[in-house]
Amino acid sequence: MAEILEPTDYNITKCKEHLECSEVVAVPTETVYGLAANALDEVAVKKIFEIKKRPLIDPLIVHVHSSNQTHLYAELNILAQKLIKEYWPGPLTLVLKKKSKIPDLVTASLPSVAIRSPQHPTFRKLLKALSFPLAAPSANPFGYISPTQTMHVQHSLGENIRYILNGGYSKLGIESTIIDVQDENKPTILRPGPITRDELEQKFNRTFFSHNETSRNSVIPAPGLLDNHYSPKKPLMLVEEKDLQNLLSKNEHSKLKNCAIILNKRPKKLKAENLFWLSENGDLNEISKNLYHTLRQIDESQYSKLYIQEIEMIHLGVALMDRIRKAAN
Ligand code: TXA
Ligand code: MG
Repeated sequence: MAEILEPTDYNITKCKEHLECSEVVAVPTETVYGLAANALDEVAVKKIFEIKKRPLIDPLIVHVHSSNQTHLYAELNILAQKLIKEYWPGPLTLVLKKKSKIPDLVTASLPSVAIRSPQHPTFRKLLKALSFPLAAPSANPFGYISPTQTMHVQHSLGENIRYILNGGYSKLGIESTIIDVQDENKPTILRPGPITRDELEQKFNRTFFSHNETSRNSVIPAPGLLDNHYSPKKPLMLVEEKDLQNLLSKNEHSKLKNCAIILNKRPKKLKAENLFWLSENGDLNEISKNLYHTLRQIDESQYSKLYIQEIEMIHLGVALMDRIRKAAN
């Protein structure tokens, strides 16, 4: 079992020293928990891939404390600088042309590197104490649901890591938005996330492409396009709006005994033990915060199959449906 460390100065120094010895530490972020190691140290980075059982073809995100450090690792352009100014520290990852300081192992030998400066105060304290950036994917076994609290990390990776730094619940609950800005004229959202396309387009008064609009010529697989991403172990079925009433009335007649049904919001009248909900009133931020925790909880319970109600594809709903579709694959 890993030791869960409260975020005291003493423990942050403990994590720092562990990372300086080419080891890994699980860290809290505002999106999901990460499994961090020195991004400039191949021995350390290799351990991330081994612990997660992640294929080496899947590149990692490099986390920096300050935007001033970005130019050491990547080539910046004007659009990237504007995005950084607007959204860092925060849930935005930029894919930029890589500089040679970043080992090829981190980027799966791509000519680009994904970088973000996170917002979580505990993670920032740790980054500030270090003389190197941290490579950190989500702290889950490859393909499984990302962790949003220490117990999730403990449950699936605790046997293989020494420390988990406690930062409470991840307040956003899904992974960062990833934008490829290598071509300033064609910024492309590779992974939708907490910073939405609507918001970006409104703020910058220009188009941000979505991955499927530009992917025809792309050599890089989109993040998370590998099969079975974010998936529970049990089968997960997506329920379209038009089929929901039917499913619920079947359930009323207790024909779905071994299945759990996950709704967007608390049902008004219905009562059944196998009904779960992601928010009180359908608030997308609340749904986002609760999604992975709810999926994990049910995955570990007695139910043999999960149904989840589809979410309207507006604002954050786009990112949520991206995760749910992949989980339901
Ligand atoms: O919110 C987050 O981004 C979390 C926290 C821990 O920061 N991290 C995270 O990392 O979600 P991970 O490894 O689970 O997902 C990163 C995704 C992967 O799907 C990877 O393929 C993609 O980013 N990626 C990394 N470098 C890339 C690059 N150079 N070009 C295209 N995609 C890249
Ligand atoms: Mg991940």
